[in-house]
Amino acid sequence: MNNVLTNTSQEVNVFHVPVMVDEVIYYLSPAFNNQQEKVIFVDATIGGGGHTEKILQYFKIDIVVGIDWDKDAIDYCKRKFKQYKNVYLFNKNYVEIDCIINKFAGYQVKGILFDYGVSLYQLRTPSRGFSYQTNGILDMRFSQTDLTKRAKEIIKESSYEYLARIFKVYGEERFARKIALTICKNRQKINTTMDVVNLVKSTVPQHSRRKALARIFQALRIAVNNELYNIQTALQKAISILSPTGRIVCLSYHSLEDRLVKNVFKQNAQLKTLKIITKKPVTPLIAEIQANPQARSAKLRAAEKLEQINA
Ligand SMILES: C[S@@+](CC[C@H](N)C(=O)[O-])C[C@H]1O[C@@H](n2cnc3c(N)ncnc32)[C@H](O)[C@@H]1O
Repeated sequence: MNNVLTNTSQEVNVFHVPVMVDEVIYYLSPAFNNQQEKVIFVDATIGGGGHTEKILQYFKIDIVVGIDWDKDAIDYCKRKFKQYKNVYLFNKNYVEIDCIINKFAGYQVKGILFDYGVSLYQLRTPSRGFSYQTNGILDMRFSQTDLTKRAKEIIKESSYEYLARIFKVYGEERFARKIALTICKNRQKINTTMDVVNLVKSTVPQHSRRKALARIFQALRIAVNNELYNIQTALQKAISILSPTGRIVCLSYHSLEDRLVKNVFKQNAQLKTLKIITKKPVTPLIAEIQANPQARSAKLRAAEKLEQINA
């Protein structure tokens, strides 16, 4: 089955186009070749299941665990993988990866994939509010049950200082203070994504607008979902549950995500728990970027778990 979603109006949309699939398979493969044990692969951000689908084709894996905080992704994957008896799906935050894996005693975790960011489905669904290109509700929550504050509440209830800080730190936006000020002055009138778009446009010079919009939406998304905390905590937990010779692959889409992955890998390499496989982040081929522009900012890092030496 391909990555296609059929909605109620019978329109056919792509749920997601998986990024750097061949590279993900390449970096995971040493962990799954010639294995004798009962093994698990964890797709911690299963989305539309594009990576998992390929992994099921390439490797013989006893148990595949798919996690996604978005119920729509899990419902989609339940349909997509219904013929697979070895695929177990969890609508959970990936920070719970250790508790989820505890359910599979006697199996070795040999591969873990984190593919951060949003799926095409999330970006293109106006009611989710992730995109500055379509008018939608200012939501941006990955989980509509675990998280209560939407982007709208963050904008309406936060202080000027907090908004300026998240735009600067999570968005790395140079007009952070100016945009925060405009938003605060007009916040009673803000209800939709386009209200934010118009205020940002009215604040920054024309040549900086597109980048500023991407950065402000990125900052709001990170704040709504507590993303940096989740990435760092889950990555460290994932490394702890990985078996020796098991591999972890992370796909990041902006510098804050990539820096976190780089630092966590580095700290674990210093502690001799990980061997870093990719000295520099691997980027997609030009042909992939041409076919799928969403891949253009992708950076892949991979590492292998080392055997622990008792002191
Ligand atoms: C880029 S998509 C993954 C696409 C997937 N690799 C594929 O091939 O279709 C990222 C996914 O991560 C999920 N996600 C984001 N934060 C999460 C979290 N804290 N826990 C679990 N899933 C999360 C999103 O809901 C989204 O479906």
